[in-house]
Amino acid sequence: MAKVLVTGGLGYIGSHTVVELLAQNHEVIIVDNLSNSEYCILSKISEITHTTPAFEQIDICDTDALRACFKAHGPIHAVIHFAAYKAVGESVSNSLLYYKNNVLGLLSVLECMREFSVCNIVFSSSCTVYGQPTQLPVTEQAPIQKALSPYGNTKQICEEIICDAIHSYNDICAVILRYFNPIGAHPSACIGELPKGVPNNLVPFITQTAAGVRKQLQVFGNDYNTPDGSAIRDYIYVVDLAKAHVKALDKLCAQTTHSGYELFNLGTGTGISVLEMVHTFERVTGVSVPYTIASRREGDIEQVWADTTRANRELDWFANTSLEDILLSAWNWEKKIRNL
Ligand code: UD1
Repeated sequence: MAKVLVTGGLGYIGSHTVVELLAQNHEVIIVDNLSNSEYCILSKISEITHTTPAFEQIDICDTDALRACFKAHGPIHAVIHFAAYKAVGESVSNSLLYYKNNVLGLLSVLECMREFSVCNIVFSSSCTVYGQPTQLPVTEQAPIQKALSPYGNTKQICEEIICDAIHSYNDICAVILRYFNPIGAHPSACIGELPKGVPNNLVPFITQTAAGVRKQLQVFGNDYNTPDGSAIRDYIYVVDLAKAHVKALDKLCAQTTHSGYELFNLGTGTGISVLEMVHTFERVTGVSVPYTIASRREGDIEQVWADTTRANRELDWFANTSLEDILLSAWNWEKKIRNL
C-alpha cells in the first residue's frame, strides 16, 4: 500500500486512475485546480469506491501551495502526474499558456518531490512524440520526431526534463507512459470524459452526434493510404489505461534502484480506422451517426498503433476490453450526462 499524490486526479484519466488505486487499497491525495474538471467528480469517485480520497484544490504551478500539500500529507511514496493542458488546437493558438502550465507544472512537482525526498513519479506522455512512425507497430525505441504542436512539444520537453533531472541528481525513479488514444468511460457511468464546448476528439464527437447534440460528424480525410482511406489510431480503454498506472506504481515501489526511468507504450496493439469506429459504434448501440467526409485535419498523421510488448512483459499489463464494450461504455456515459 502506497500513499500517492495524484495531480489532475479529477480529470478524465486521473479520475479513472484514482478509482483503480483506491480499489487496490492505495491511499490517494488528489491535487487539482479544477481548470478542466469538476469538483463533483470527487463524490462520484466515492460512490464507486466507497472511499473519499483527500482533495486539495491547488494549481501545481504554485510551488508554495504544492509544497504545503506535500508537507501536510507526508510522507508521500509516489506522484502520478496528470495535470496538464491537452487541447492540440488551443496549444497552437496559445502556445505560451501550454509551455507555462505543462512545463512549469512539472518543474514545480519535481522540485517538491526532491525537497520532500519523494523519488517515484509516473508521468503522462503521449504517442504524439513519435509523429508519423516509419515502422508500425511503433516501439519505444522509435525515434522522436519534431512535434507538430506546442502541446506535443511540451510532452517531449517534459520527458527530457525528467531524464535530465535523473541524470543530474540521481534521486528520481520515473515511469513515462506514452498513451495512444484513450476513450470510453467507467462501467458505472459515474465518471467519463467531460469535454468543454465542441469536442476535438473522435469518440466524444461520435457520442454527441448520436445523442443529437451535434448534427453530423466530419470524417477528416478519406484519401489516406489505409484500407478504407480514413486515418488509423490505437484506441485504448481508459479503465485499462488506469490499471496500467497502478502496475507502474507497484513496479516503482517494489524496485530497489534509486534512480532511472522506464518508458512504456500504452495502447491495444491494434489500429482502427475512423470509419471502422463509426460503424462499430452504430452496430453495438443501434444508433446511427450521420457523417460527411471532410478534408484532412491539419497536423493529423495517417496511421499509428502501438507495439505493447514491453508493457505486457515488464508491467504484466494487458489491454483486454473489446472495442464494442469500450464504445458501449462511452455511449452509456453520454446518455447519462444528457439524461437520455
Ligand atoms: C489527439 C492529439 C494527441 C492527443 C490526443 C488526446 C493531434 C495530432 N493529436 O490525437 O496528441 O494526445 O488527441 O487528446 O491532434 N477525427 C475525425 N473527426 C472528428 C475528430 C477526429 O475524423 O471530429 C479523426 C482524426 O482526424 C483522427 C482520429 O479521428 O484521425 C482521432 O482523432 P482524435 O480523437 O482527435 O485523436 P488524435 O488526433 O489521434
